[in-house]
Amino acid sequence: MANDQCLACHVEEEYLPEGYLENDIHTQAGLSCAGCHGGDPTSDDADIAMSPAAGFVGVPSRQEVPQFCGKCHSDIGIMRQYQPRIATDQVAQYYTSVHGQRLQEGDQKVAECVSCHTAHGILRAKDARSTVYPLNVPGTCQRCHGDADYMKEYGIPSNQYDDYAKSVHGQALLENQDTGAPACNDCHGNHGAVPPGVASVGQVCGHCHVNNMQYFIASRMGEAFAEEELHGCEECHGNHRVEKTNDDMIGTSDKSVCVDCHAEGDPGYEVAKTIRAQLAKLTQSYDKAIARQSEVQRIGMDDVDIGYLLREAHQSLIQARTLVHTFDPEKVAPKTEEGVVKADEALVAAVAQIKEHKVRRRGLGMATLFITMLVVALFFKVRQMETR
Ligand code: HEC
Ligand code: HEC
Ligand code: HEC
Ligand code: HEC
Ligand code: HEC
Ligand code: HEC
Ligand code: HEC
Ligand code: HEC
Ligand code: HEC
Repeated sequence: MANDQCLACHVEEEYLPEGYLENDIHTQAGLSCAGCHGGDPTSDDADIAMSPAAGFVGVPSRQEVPQFCGKCHSDIGIMRQYQPRIATDQVAQYYTSVHGQRLQEGDQKVAECVSCHTAHGILRAKDARSTVYPLNVPGTCQRCHGDADYMKEYGIPSNQYDDYAKSVHGQALLENQDTGAPACNDCHGNHGAVPPGVASVGQVCGHCHVNNMQYFIASRMGEAFAEEELHGCEECHGNHRVEKTNDDMIGTSDKSVCVDCHAEGDPGYEVAKTIRAQLAKLTQSYDKAIARQSEVQRIGMDDVDIGYLLREAHQSLIQARTLVHTFDPEKVAPKTEEGVVKADEALVAAVAQIKEHKVRRRGLGMATLFITMLVVALFFKVRQMETR
């Protein structure tokens, strides 16, 4: 790059493209402006350097951008010289996306490579300043998808970012910087942006929530959802605004999701009621034991074993809540019962500690009394000896 005439002259002319960064990955890799725009980077004569004869292609139109980048990024021979494992399917994937297909139909407003990556300030995806770094992806998509005017003609909502930012996922990623939580591209793909269809939505969520997916797909209801083209996880949890869950989501109260589709008398309704009761039994036992545990802690007795049992009970509760996705009380029961046994054992142990404490206090009282009497007796004895 040191002898690159394209850069040298453009710096001199103060005609660097908007958003140009010196640490742009292509510049860093020693690729000249000519790598993308063509031309002869060794000539300091503008007419030669930027002549079509030297392969100069100038500024690509939006429609041309994917191929323009794909010249290198789709060529494994070029790319593996720089990164042995870099993917070369971005362009191919892109053309399967809604963005790519609309672009081919002539739509000028969809995202192409530059919309998400910029053209002259491209950083590695792993670089925290990159527009496609996980924490920055939602903002990158939001620029178009959150603009109601821009999206108006397409008849799709423009609230994805707002909903997402309020969701458990959005809060985990944007507020707690937990990159294990999904950004837009974890559900929609980096380059193949399409809404996950009926068949794939469970797979998308199941990529991270493995057990929930397996239980759900194997359940009677999972089969029914597939037949009736219902949207899997999304029917109960939503897509962008996935909220923290709680036991009230199952059962027959109006906070339950089950009553949206199951009315009194049908098997789903009965199952909702039963599973809710199983969970309630466990949480009640657990809460009771927890209350006793804090009493044990307050009086300063040993709660190590109690804590251990309670952790096991809590583990069962977590697993039972995942087993809800079997929608089968017989599969949930072993876990909730196991948890109840542990919680009850913890309760018994706590009660024993509290009793022990009382016994000790009584013993201590007796001992104090005895010692006091002894001291008093000694006192009189000494006085008696002194007067004598
Ligand atoms: C001696 C100076 C000089 C050199 C060398 C030079 N440029 Fe330019 N370039 C300019 C100037 C001045 C303009 C703006 C006027 C114009 O379009 O001719 C320009 C315009 C451009 C444009 C915008 C064209 C458009 O249609 O808007 C691109 C892209 C470009 N240069 C890329 C390159 C590349 C790639 C090289 C190296 C192969 C290069 N330049 C070499 C001076 C130079
Ligand atoms: C990674 C490929 C790539 C590299 C490397 C690259 N460009 Fe570009 N350039 C593009 C694309 C794509 C566009 C059109 C999209 C846009 O306007 O942002 C563009 C547009 C331009 C334009 C016209 C629009 C504007 O912002 O003024 C100029 C001038 C330009 N480039 C100059 C350069 C110069 C000078 C260099 C080297 C320092 C360079 N480019 C390196 C991809 C590249
Ligand atoms: C809708 C936004 C979007 C568009 C359009 C887009 N990308 Fe990406 N791209 C991403 C995201 C997000 C990542 C980051 C993936 C990650 O975190 O690993 C990425 C990653 C990359 C990477 C790093 C390697 C990889 O595959 O993960 C390359 C190279 C790349 N994109 C090139 C392109 C090219 C070429 C195009 C045009 C054909 C393009 N991108 C279009 C969003 C986009
Ligand atoms: C002249 C060949 C060439 C062209 C044309 C080109 N790139 Fe690249 N690009 C590379 C190379 C080589 C690297 C890898 C550099 C490295 O890993 O050190 C790279 C890296 C990238 C990365 C970072 C990948 C990562 O590791 O995260 C992105 C994103 C990217 N390019 C996007 C684009 C986009 C968008 C365009 C079109 C505007 C484009 N590239 C055009 C050669 C090219
Ligand atoms: C340059 C603006 C722009 C950017 C940036 C952008 N999109 Fe889009 N996107 C559009 C437009 C316009 C459409 C077309 C809407 C349609 O046809 O329904 C679209 C369509 C989509 C669709 C298909 C919607 C449908 O109708 O089925 C998805 C999914 C999508 N984008 C996801 C993303 C994600 C994820 C990102 C960020 C990684 C992103 N987009 C970035 C403009 C953009
Ligand atoms: C947890 C997974 C997930 C995340 C994260 C996610 N989406 Fe979606 N998205 C979905 C699902 C599922 C659908 C709906 C599919 C359906 O019902 O047809 C969808 C639909 C869409 C659509 C089509 C229009 C609509 O609203 O139904 C767009 C556009 C879109 N998402 C953009 C985004 C953007 C932008 C982000 C980031 C701010 C994002 N999505 C984050 C899963 C996700
Ligand atoms: C990239 C991995 C990933 C994907 C994909 C994903 N999630 Fe999550 N999900 C997480 C993480 C991590 C958390 C924990 C966030 C937190 O609370 O810190 C979470 C939390 C949740 C919660 C709240 C759990 C609770 O304890 O109450 C629900 C419900 C959920 N996700 C459902 C879904 C659904 C439905 C989808 C698909 C539309 C999905 N997830 C896609 C990683 C993912
Ligand atoms: C028919 C409704 C329904 C469907 C479909 C559904 N869930 Fe749930 N989900 C629930 C209910 C109810 C709870 C709350 C259980 C509790 O806390 O008692 C829950 C809890 C969760 C939790 C938090 C508890 C845990 O397991 O960590 C996650 C994560 C979750 N669901 C993910 C998913 C995923 C992923 C899918 C799709 C494969 C899915 N759910 C499908 C109703 C559903
Ligand atoms: C989006 C609608 C929808 C929601 C929400 C929903 N179900 Fe279902 N459920 C169905 C459909 C459709 C069937 C299949 C038809 C049938 O067998 O009754 C089904 C079947 C079932 C079955 C199998 C019944 C049988 O005949 O063996 C059970 C059990 C069940 N659901 C439990 C639940 C529970 C528990 C919840 C709440 C956590 C719930 N469902 C929420 C739609 C739903």
